[in-house]
Amino acid sequence: MAAMVVRRTDSRLEHALVLRSTTPLPESLAKRLLEMGTSGVWQVGPREWRAYFPEPDPTHARSLSITHPEVIAAWESSERTDWAARYHASLKPLPVGRRFTILPSPRIANPWPERIPLRLVPGTAFGTGEHYTTASCLRVIDEMSLVPGSVCDVGCGSGILAVAACKLGAPTVVACDTDPEACRVARRTRAVNRVSYAVVNGSAADVKGRFALVVANILAETLVEILPDLKSRTLPGGMLVGSGIAARKAEVVSGAAKKTGFEMQAVRSDGAWVTYVWKALKR
Ligand SMILES: C[S@@+](CC[C@H](N)C(=O)[O-])C[C@H]1O[C@@H](n2cnc3c(N)ncnc32)[C@H](O)[C@@H]1O
Repeated sequence: MAAMVVRRTDSRLEHALVLRSTTPLPESLAKRLLEMGTSGVWQVGPREWRAYFPEPDPTHARSLSITHPEVIAAWESSERTDWAARYHASLKPLPVGRRFTILPSPRIANPWPERIPLRLVPGTAFGTGEHYTTASCLRVIDEMSLVPGSVCDVGCGSGILAVAACKLGAPTVVACDTDPEACRVARRTRAVNRVSYAVVNGSAADVKGRFALVVANILAETLVEILPDLKSRTLPGGMLVGSGIAARKAEVVSGAAKKTGFEMQAVRSDGAWVTYVWKALKR
């Protein structure tokens, strides 16, 4: 009877086929490595890649010497990297404005207890606070004391602005986004922050009611398109914060807002992006 060979794998080790060349490594090599069953390729630089495999296999290096003779391939085994821990360690709390700290993962502690923590969950939705448009919305909301009062966050993305509104004491907050994935992330953000807001998969026209503050961090074209809906959602005398406006389009947006019945109260810019605060006139 043939003996069955059981190959023991040491789960503490990771095995990388290290590939080096004097010229930049070609894209065709990545395809070849995928065919060989690599679990991932780390492009250390244009001339050095590390392709990870569950076990070292000498036939891989031999086969590459035929298809890619310019590449020198050698196996290296080392202690397994805890990629999750490394990623986690790279996430840093971000202070924004006078009062907020953005915590890019639910597991990160707030290093500034006097600041209000806005906890994010990993996801594909926009709204990590690192972008000027998000940070400027947070700043104007805080500095102009636009909350408390009811708030509608149009184009909520991660839900970061809705969370901020809740934590500043808004009695009612509604968040909406046309992207179902953003809505899913906004619901998870709501849970990790232990706040309460409604999430509507749609735009301003799909939300019911009128709000003391409407925040819309969306692109200039979209903002102009939905300005009449934003006006319908804003209480007379209430405020609209419009962000996500590329500086070169600011004048067009500002003109459209005026025509729709908004009066400009404040404007912020970093040179590339503009954030407006408008008051809804009573007409
Ligand atoms: C720039 S992100 C803003 C995210 C977050 N509010 C922030 O300030 O970081 C814009 C979001 O608006 C959403 N969006 C785009 N067009 C929209 C529309 N017409 N109505 C509602 N949401 C829209 C996008 O799916 C995206 O999640």
